Amino acid sequence: MSDQLKSGLYAFDLVQKRAKRPAGAPDKQLARKVTKVGVVGAGLMAGQLALLFARRLDVPVVMTDLDQERLDKGVAYVHGEVDKLLGKGRVSQDKANRLKGLVTGSLTKDAFADADFVIEAVFEKMEIKQQVFAEVEAVVSPEAVLATNTSSLSVTEMASRLQHPERVVGFHFFNPVAVLPLLEIIRGEKTDDAALATAFATAKQLKKTAVLCKDAPAFVVNRLLTLFMGEVLAAVEEGTEPEVADRAVSPLGLPMSPLMLLQLVGPAVALHVSETLHEAFPERFAVSPQLAEVVKAGKTQIFAPDFSIDPEVKALLSGGTNPSEESAILDRALRALAREVRVMLDEGVVAEPADIDLCLITGAGWPFHTGGITPYLDRSGVSEAVNGRPFHEGALKAL
Ligand SMILES: NC(=O)c1ccc[n+]([C@@H]2O[C@H](COP(=O)([O-])OP(=O)(O)OC[C@H]3O[C@@H](n4cnc5c(N)ncnc54)[C@H](O)[C@@H]3O)[C@@H](O)[C@H]2O)c1
Repeated sequence: MSDQLKSGLYAFDLVQKRAKRPAGAPDKQLARKVTKVGVVGAGLMAGQLALLFARRLDVPVVMTDLDQERLDKGVAYVHGEVDKLLGKGRVSQDKANRLKGLVTGSLTKDAFADADFVIEAVFEKMEIKQQVFAEVEAVVSPEAVLATNTSSLSVTEMASRLQHPERVVGFHFFNPVAVLPLLEIIRGEKTDDAALATAFATAKQLKKTAVLCKDAPAFVVNRLLTLFMGEVLAAVEEGTEPEVADRAVSPLGLPMSPLMLLQLVGPAVALHVSETLHEAFPERFAVSPQLAEVVKAGKTQIFAPDFSIDPEVKALLSGGTNPSEESAILDRALRALAREVRVMLDEGVVAEPADIDLCLITGAGWPFHTGGITPYLDRSGVSEAVNGRPFHEGALKAL
């Protein structure tokens, strides 16, 4: 019974059991039936969502966007993905035809009139999302659920100007949607049990791992990844070679290095999320001035095609003359995580440490052998050192 095996068993239990009975989900009898879905936006996330809803719910899905060109591109993406599934033998010809028929586009939101679940995946700007929800509310029934795929904005604020804010729920997917099972479901201040139950029932039909989160900045995964990435970036800014800082956290066995993740997420998006978190928690989240420089320079790629760090990006990220050892960088990153997880649990962002781990495993691909993160923080002594107590009082030891 090594520590890794104990953590692995714990993680297995999370994805097999806890994922199926989400903590805090309301009575499923309250869920309303979803017979038609609206998707606002036809961009990167919207296309993936439209495909998933059509495939798993087998109901009509109508997409909309600002102009015909973007809309056509979004619908064509979905149809192209259906063709790929057909090519791989994952769906039959009949099913492929049916899926293509189910996913359509409309430039006006009137097409949403009989939709009972509308999800928005438009630009990450509060005013735009509020406007979109107001337009949708004008055409749908009072019971229709309005869901947002926002990564970091307040669901409560987004709902605040609506006639029926109780129907709004956060429904935060992770990219790539087909690969990452996690769905953070966010209850806004006014969200009612019927809307929330509908969200959980829909998540189940979509075969996603739903975790209930409080409406707190960046919810769970993005909050922790931003914090973690921030420590690595800070070490670079202080003078550590980017390659060294990036490698420092490799003992955690993450699916990719922090700088590779930064490239995947996109420096501009990462900066935006860090700004949101800094605004909420200035004492714990910094906005990296160097990352801001990278964004200002219009850099989207951190790595060259041969996986070396782009020399221009390296110059933009680097700063000080105070390099750190790899072990010190890992230590500061782990300490920051331990402190933040404790704060999140005290704030009630999720019910238990297990939900934090379930989120990191299913939303960010963190490995089973660390049990997500809290068992690892416990067994490496970091929880005790930072918070004065472990996250798991004996429960994991009893395995
Ligand atoms: N990209 C990711 O990895 C990711 C992951 C999870 C969540 N999200 C969130 O999903 C949302 C969408 O992100 P994305 O990466 O798909 O962006 P994107 O830029 O690819 O797509 C956004 C689309 O919304 C359209 N749009 C803007 N305003 C509109 C309006 N008023 N009405 C209709 N359409 C409008 C745009 O034309 C664009 O096609 C954001 O809130 C983002 O934070 C993104």
